[in-house]
Amino acid sequence: MPSSFTLTLIKPDAVAAGHTGKILQHICQAGFRITAMKMVHLSEQQAGQFYAVHRERPFYSDLVRFMTSGPVVAAVVSGENAVERFRELIGATNPAQAAEGTIRKLFGQSVERNAVHGSDSEANAEREAAFFFSELERFNL
Ligand code: CMP
Repeated sequence: MPSSFTLTLIKPDAVAAGHTGKILQHICQAGFRITAMKMVHLSEQQAGQFYAVHRERPFYSDLVRFMTSGPVVAAVVSGENAVERFRELIGATNPAQAAEGTIRKLFGQSVERNAVHGSDSEANAEREAAFFFSELERFNL
């Protein structure tokens, strides 16, 4: 399986709680490489665009409000079969249903405040990585 990548966000709840370093450590200890990273405070328009696929869902406006409540850390995470393996590392969307030892189980508080985002397909990883990073900001490590 060739190396691939996914896009993660460490969400405002986890950043504000001081969990950024521990979450990055989990990611690196699982064998992934960080190949781009930045901290940003999203505007409503940017968060709405990022989550546009959920626009019709009942939780959309709360999600946008939460994702703009403080800075997030965005990162491109690279490794073999990155999208699928990273989703295993972070666990189920709802931390209450996430497996023991997963990032959402360890650091998530609720289905909305679930500590991290991970792309759900390679096509979305491409789109989401391009949303946050230019080619100059990404590395072939
Ligand atoms: P994420 O992986 O960032 O992708 C979409 C986000 O929407 C998801 O994590 C959750 O934070 C949020 N979400 C998904 N389902 C619900 C729900 N039923 N109620 C509130 N938020 C949700």
